[in-house]
Amino acid sequence: MSDYRIQEHPILPAPSEAVVPFTWKGTAYRARKGDTITSALFANGVRIFGHHHKDGAPQGIFCANGQCAQCSVVANGLSVKSCMVRVTEGMTVEPLDGKAKLVDAAGDLRFHDVETVETECLVLGGGPAGLAAAIELGKAGVNVVLVDDKAALGGKLVLQTHKFFGSIEACHAGTRGLDIGKMLEAEVRSHPNVRVWTETTAVAVFSDRKVGVLRDGHYVLVRPQVLLVATGAREKSLVFKGNTLPGVYGAGAFQTLVNRDLVRPSERLFVVGGGNVGLIGSYHALQAGIQVVGLCEALDECGGYKVHKDKLVRMGVPIYTRHTVVSANGTEEVESVTIAQLDPAWKVIPGTEKTFKCDTLLVAVGLDPVDEFLKKAKEFGLPVVAAGDAEEIAEASAAIFTGKIRGTEIARRLGRDVGEVPAEWLRTAEVLKARPGAVITEEIPADETGVLIPSTSVPPLPGVTPATTCVP
Ligand SMILES: Cc1cc2nc3c(=O)[nH]c(=O)nc-3n(C[C@H](O)[C@H](O)[C@H](O)COP(=O)(O)OP(=O)(O)OC[C@H]3O[C@@H](n4cnc5c(N)ncnc54)[C@H](O)[C@@H]3O)c2cc1C
Ligand code: FES
Repeated sequence: MSDYRIQEHPILPAPSEAVVPFTWKGTAYRARKGDTITSALFANGVRIFGHHHKDGAPQGIFCANGQCAQCSVVANGLSVKSCMVRVTEGMTVEPLDGKAKLVDAAGDLRFHDVETVETECLVLGGGPAGLAAAIELGKAGVNVVLVDDKAALGGKLVLQTHKFFGSIEACHAGTRGLDIGKMLEAEVRSHPNVRVWTETTAVAVFSDRKVGVLRDGHYVLVRPQVLLVATGAREKSLVFKGNTLPGVYGAGAFQTLVNRDLVRPSERLFVVGGGNVGLIGSYHALQAGIQVVGLCEALDECGGYKVHKDKLVRMGVPIYTRHTVVSANGTEEVESVTIAQLDPAWKVIPGTEKTFKCDTLLVAVGLDPVDEFLKKAKEFGLPVVAAGDAEEIAEASAAIFTGKIRGTEIARRLGRDVGEVPAEWLRTAEVLKARPGAVITEEIPADETGVLIPSTSVPPLPGVTPATTCVP
């Protein structure tokens, strides 16, 4: 049994034994059933997946979400993104290392008899936005195909082990993100007019208004009357020395390994980015028994909710505001991280560098919408709308509402008698997308008699309780 698996988690059920044999560079290892190649390699202590053929730079993962290709390996003779492909019995896995000829083991890869599937609505992405839209479309009797490139539906909700807060009606307050994902999935699957294709990747939108998808190794064309793009977001990276060293990961990658696959990818972690993703990612690391040696944020204040930041401070994590990362240091993988203070012109102040011994640098500096299918569909005249992060980066509860709204709009457009989108939904979606107001520091008056001190410093937005997620 490897040391790199999390055997117990305060929230998640006990994982199964690793019983699936596979090889990495000829050495025999075992994976758990359902492990991606990435998780199986990490679980066995491997996080250098090869070396770049141009300069020999070591390669590992960055996003663990299918969005960067940094994790490419050769599995059973085919070049694949290791974070997206599950280990199968007897699989042989090798580094890519610039290999040109890969297909011997896979046989004839030409496309034969490509099937075209007709549907009223094709939903790309089974996160909160795509699922919420599919529920409204399902209720309205619209014929839907929903595709998602992961094995399990839920999108980023699958990684969210913490309970949501806000209002129960708008945001499933008190329920964990991963359970919200399961509830939405069950409702989607209760509609026979919604076909769900998991492990299916949309690869292109064509000028003849068909969408190409790869499903179970087969290429399929889908011709929808309307396309809904709910493909979520990809994490931004930063430019600094050593930013591709194995050990530099997006926060989502870290959450995927820890919260979805129960793998411990790190012993000592440094985090850059004090938004909610960085703060919550740090807390999830602490929950998994990983030491967080520090967090830096370029702004004067962390942008995430104060309640999350305070929790880290209470647990002894030093937070350096007005600091940025200068370098990730190491030869084959991260051994330390250097940060430095920024001047008012955002330039590093020489002499303020601080170096932290750690094996992992988590980059949590924001997200970009995955909207290339939206742009192509618009260009080619395919009726298209976007929901969730693909439309505008926000939080999961906002994604659910924009999904509901777009689903209803599409049903109307397709001639279903669903009525207008309720004004309340539109209002709630706007409130949920809004950023929290400035943090107000309450002064305690000298005479406290008859004075009620509020327990939160975030001013409430009109009408709806602010929605975000909380750490239990
Ligand atoms: C690391 C991280 C942590 C977060 N933590 C929180 C949090 O704690 N609380 C909170 O409220 N919000 C959080 N968010 C934000 C929240 O998760 C998102 O706003 C929300 O999940 C967006 O929903 P969505 O449906 O638009 O996209 P997603 O949930 O990202 O779902 C999109 C789905 O589309 C799939 N997909 C993408 N491309 C393709 C393709 N080509 N073919 C097929 N499928 C594809 C993806 O794999 C994914 O399953 C976090 C986001 C990130 C990145
Ligand atoms: S695609 Fe696998 S790490 Fe980014």
